[in-house]
Amino acid sequence: MKAAVANEPGNEEVLQYQEAPDPACGDGQVRIRVRAAAINRGDLGRRAGRSAGAQLSWPLIIGWDIAGEIESVGSGVADRKVGDRVVALIPQGGYAELATAPAGDTVPLPDNVSFDEGAALPVAYLTARYALLWRAGLQAGETVLIQAGASGVGVGAIQMAKNQGATVITTAGSGEKVEFCKGLGADHVINYRDQDFAQEVRRITNDAGVDVVLESVGGETLAKSMDVLGQFGRLVSVGNTVRETATMDVTAFLAKRCHLEGFSLLVQDDIPAELADLVQEVSDGSIKAVIDKVFPLSEAAEAHRYVAERRNMGKVILRP
Ligand SMILES: NC(=O)c1ccc[n+]([C@@H]2O[C@H](COP(=O)([O-])OP(=O)(O)OC[C@H]3O[C@@H](n4cnc5c(N)ncnc54)[C@H](OP(=O)(O)O)[C@@H]3O)[C@@H](O)[C@H]2O)c1
Repeated sequence: MKAAVANEPGNEEVLQYQEAPDPACGDGQVRIRVRAAAINRGDLGRRAGRSAGAQLSWPLIIGWDIAGEIESVGSGVADRKVGDRVVALIPQGGYAELATAPAGDTVPLPDNVSFDEGAALPVAYLTARYALLWRAGLQAGETVLIQAGASGVGVGAIQMAKNQGATVITTAGSGEKVEFCKGLGADHVINYRDQDFAQEVRRITNDAGVDVVLESVGGETLAKSMDVLGQFGRLVSVGNTVRETATMDVTAFLAKRCHLEGFSLLVQDDIPAELADLVQEVSDGSIKAVIDKVFPLSEAAEAHRYVAERRNMGKVILRP
C-alpha cells in the first residue's frame, strides 16, 4: 500500500509518500480501505517525536481518525462485513491506504455522511463533546468561553454549546476567523490580537465571568482563562498548543470555588458509543463536520505545514 510515512522524527519533510507493508488483519479486527484521514494538531507533535506517553517506533505512520470501507474481516468478527462504511479512532496508522482496527472500535457511517465528514469527527469533536458536555456539564442558560474557536476542537465545541442552549464566547486570531466563528453560531467572538480577551469576557458578562471554559491553548491563555471563571466555574484543559508554562495567582480562583480539570481522549474507554452518537448527530443535521481543506495523502507534508501555520478553520483531511 501507499502511505505517508515518517521515517524519523522531525519537521514536515520527514513525511514521505511511499510504499509500506499492508497491515495484517488479526483476529477480531477489520482492515479498512481508508478514504479519508483527518489531521489533528497532536499529529504534528507525534511526527516530531513527542509521544504523550505512547510508545513510538520509526518508521511511523501516524493518524488517529479514519473513515472508509471494510476491505477484509478477521476471524471472530460477526457484526461487520466487507464493504461496510465505517469511521474509527485508531492509535496510529491512519495516513495510509489501508488501516486496521478492532471491529468493535468501528462505527457505521450512514450514507448521508461522507468519508471526509466521518474522518473529521473522532479526535476533535469527541474531545469537545466529552469536555463540554460530560466533564464540564455545560447547562442551558450558562455562558461558556471556548478558546481557539476556529480550531478543529473549537468548531465542534461552538456547535455543541449552542445546541446545549449556552451563550458562546470564543476567541480567534484573525478577522477572517472571527467571521467564520460567528457563522458557526458563536454569540461573541473576540479577536485576541486586537483586544485583551479577559477584559472583553468581563465586559460581556458584566464582570460575572463565565460558567465554563474549554481551554486548549495553554500557557498565559490558560492562566487568564482561569481568571475569567465566575462563581463555581469549571475549566476543562484539553491542550497546551503553545507548549508554555505560566504562573497565576489562585486567590480569586479559590474564593470563587472553581474547578480545574485535565482531559485526555486517549484514555477514554467508551469512545465507540460516543462516536456513534456523534455520527448520528451529523447524519440528522444537528452537528456539522466543518472541513476546511482536503489534500491528497501524497501531500501530507504540505497539509501539516498548512495546519502548523494556523491557516485551517476547522478540519483538514487527507485523501489516499
Ligand atoms: N486532550 C485531548 O485528548 C486532545 C484531543 C484533541 C486535541 N487536543 C489539543 O487541543 C488543541 C487543539 O487541537 P486542534 O487539532 O483542534 O488544533 P488546530 O485545528 O490546529 O487549531 C489550533 C489553533 O490554536 C490557535 N493557537 C493559539 N495560539 C497558538 C500557537 N502559539 N500556535 C499554534 N496555534 C495557536 C490557532 O488559532 P488562532 O489563529 O485563532 O489563534 C490554531 O489554529 C491542541 O493543543 C491539541 O493537542 C487535545
